[in-house]
Amino acid sequence: MPVSILNDISLYVHWPFCLAKCPYCDFNSHVRETVDEEAMADALLTELDYFANMVGGRTLNSVFFGGGTPSLMSAGTVSKVIERATAHFNAANDIEITLEANPTSVEAGKFADFAAVGVNRVSLGIQALNDADLRALGREHSVREALGAIELSQKYFKRSNFDLIYARMGQTMREWERELGEALRLANGHLSLYQLTMEQGTPFYGQWRKGELVLPDEDVAAEMYGLTNDICAAAGYNPYEISNYARAGEESRHNLTYWYYRDYIGVGAGAHGRITVNDKTFSTEQNKKPESWLKKVQKDGHSTKVMTHLNQMEMAEEMIMMGLRLTMGIDASEFESRIGAPIQDFTQADQVASLISQGFVLEGFPDRLQLSVSGRTLLNQILGRILA
Ligand SMILES: C[S@@+](CC[C@H](N)C(=O)[O-])C[C@H]1O[C@@H](n2cnc3c(N)ncnc32)[C@H](O)[C@@H]1O
Ligand code: SF4
Repeated sequence: MPVSILNDISLYVHWPFCLAKCPYCDFNSHVRETVDEEAMADALLTELDYFANMVGGRTLNSVFFGGGTPSLMSAGTVSKVIERATAHFNAANDIEITLEANPTSVEAGKFADFAAVGVNRVSLGIQALNDADLRALGREHSVREALGAIELSQKYFKRSNFDLIYARMGQTMREWERELGEALRLANGHLSLYQLTMEQGTPFYGQWRKGELVLPDEDVAAEMYGLTNDICAAAGYNPYEISNYARAGEESRHNLTYWYYRDYIGVGAGAHGRITVNDKTFSTEQNKKPESWLKKVQKDGHSTKVMTHLNQMEMAEEMIMMGLRLTMGIDASEFESRIGAPIQDFTQADQVASLISQGFVLEGFPDRLQLSVSGRTLLNQILGRILA
C-alpha cells in the first residue's frame, strides 16, 4: 500500500442533537431539552485521544463536524476539538475544516466565531428555496433566513456549500429547473443536491406508504437527475459524485476520503470510521444514543459498539461501492495498491461486459471502472450484478 495514501487521515465528529426532528430524516439526530455540552465536549476529546493513539501520527487532511446539527455547538467546543486534533496529528497546510449548519438566524449569527476558531468551510442545509416547501419538509427556517445564512457563510468562510432536496412532493420539472438556476446563482463553488428518499421509520415513510404523500414518478425523478447534471455542468459545476457538484478544486476533500476509501476516524454518538492499524483495516461504529455514548466514554475512554477487522473481500466490496459513486469511478491501479489484488478478482467480467453494452458502465474497464449517468441512478442494482 503506498505510504502516501495511508499517511493521511481525516476526522469526522458527530453532534447528535437538533432543535426539531425533520420528518424525512433518519440520521442519528435527537431532540433534547438540555444538553450538557461540557461533558459532551470532554467525551469527544477522550474518544479522539483513544483513536489518535491507535492510528499514530499522520497528516490530518480534513475535519468534518456533521450531525445532527453541529452549528448548535458552541465555538468553544469546536475549538477544543480542532486544537486536540491538530495536537495529535500534523495538520496539512491546506487542511479543510467543515461544519454543517442549519440556516436559522441564531446559528448563522455564530459563523464569525466558528471561522475564528479555524472552521474554513461551511455546509448549510437549505433544502428548498420556497417557504411552502420548507414548511412541507418540516423545516425550522424560512427562505429569508436561508438567503441570509448563505450570504453570511460566504462572508465568513472561504469555501461553502449548501444542500437542496429535490424530487419533492408535487415538484415539477419546471419548478426544479427554476430553483436550481437560482441555487447556482447563489452558490459559491459547491452544491449538494439530494433526491428526497423515503427512509423506513420516518413519519414521511408512513405517510408515503398510506398514499398521503406523493412523490414524482421514478422516471420523472430520473429525468430530473439527468437535467440536474446537465444544468450544473453547463454552469461549471462538475457532477463529481452522485449528489455533489463543484467547480474545479472546490470538491469536498473530506467526503472524497470516503469515496476514495481512505482512512478516517469517527468520533461522537453513532459515528463510523475506517482506520488502518499495523496494515489491518477496521470499520468502527460508536454507540448511537447520545446518553449511552457519553456514559461509556466516561467509563471506558471510548464508546465503540463494534470494531471489525475487514478482510480483503470486504474491503474490495466497500471500495467498489464507494468509488462507483464518483463520476471518475475507480482507478484500477489505485484499487490494486489499496486492496492488494486486481479489481478483476472482485468483479464479474460477463456482467461488466453486459453493463457496458447496455450503457450503464463506461468503456475503459479494466483500467477504470466507471458508471454512466444512467448507471449512477441504478447504483445498487449494478453493484448487485458486478460484485463477484
Ligand atoms: C444529516 S443532514 C445534516 C444537515 C443539517 N442538520 C440540516 O438539516 O440542515 C445532511 C443533509 O442530508 C439531506 N437529507 C437528510 N435526509 C434526507 C432524505 N430523506 N432525503 C434526501 N436528503 C436528505 C439534507 O439535505 C441534509 O441537509
Ligand atoms: S435533516 Fe438536519 S435538522 Fe433535520 S433532523 Fe436531520 S439532521 Fe436534524
